[in-house]
Amino acid sequence: MKHIKTLITGTGIAGLLLTTALVIADDDKYEKGEHEGSFLSRIFSKKPDVAPVKNTLYKEECGSCHFAYQPGLLPARSWKKMMGDLENHFEENAELDKETQNKLTNYLVDNAADHANYKRSIRIMNSLGKNDAPLRITETPYFIRKHDEIPKRMVKDNPKLGSFSKCAACHMNAEKGSYDDDEVRIPGVGKWDDD
Ligand code: HEC
Ligand code: HEC
Repeated sequence: MKHIKTLITGTGIAGLLLTTALVIADDDKYEKGEHEGSFLSRIFSKKPDVAPVKNTLYKEECGSCHFAYQPGLLPARSWKKMMGDLENHFEENAELDKETQNKLTNYLVDNAADHANYKRSIRIMNSLGKNDAPLRITETPYFIRKHDEIPKRMVKDNPKLGSFSKCAACHMNAEKGSYDDDEVRIPGVGKWDDD
């Protein structure tokens, strides 16, 4: 009995040490100085990278042509700019009636990256200049930096993918607001391994 107890305690401590090591090994050590919540809350609570979309109107209207991007992936000024010109939306007409447009603009602005206390929203904001208002998430410096090791043949030249804009094609839990690099599977390629 005593041996078993020792074994269990031993495994527990080893597990805890391993978790600690993994958390410390996270890329965050290169990006200090940002609010992250306490050390323990990062291990035990699974707060997603960005707030997931709960608004059904938004999911219907802005998720019909592509993934319903979380508002926390761009600043409010970007969303305002985009919502002010839906007729010319990346060479498509995505016009809405005035009421729907106002509702969705409010939703996007209220939950935009500059109003969100989520890890990736904060990082995206920190990567932008004060007045930058990119219309693409994929053109923010933070996004570019996070994806610059993925070869073109796996994305643009990949017949099963074609573009970085399809977040959910690679990030298995994108819809839940989770973009962990352990949860990536590239279509036609497989699991991402950055070692
Ligand atoms: C009629 C189809 C259509 C609708 C509806 C639509 N979009 Fe788009 N959207 C597009 C296309 C096409 C692109 C460019 C995709 C690409 O380059 O692969 C795009 C791109 C985007 C991007 C940039 C993605 C990136 O590359 O970072 C954002 C953000 C976006 N849309 C938000 C919205 C929002 C918000 C709404 C709702 C108000 C919306 N879209 C509705 C067609 C649509
Ligand atoms: C080709 C598949 C692919 C697509 C499409 C893609 N990503 Fe990624 N993403 C990755 C990979 C792979 C990594 C990890 C890169 C690394 O570790 O070097 C990553 C990393 C990230 C990270 C950082 C996660 C971490 O743990 O550091 C975020 C945030 C992210 N992606 C968001 C997005 C968003 C938002 C979109 C859509 C606009 C998107 N990604 C589209 C493959 C993709």
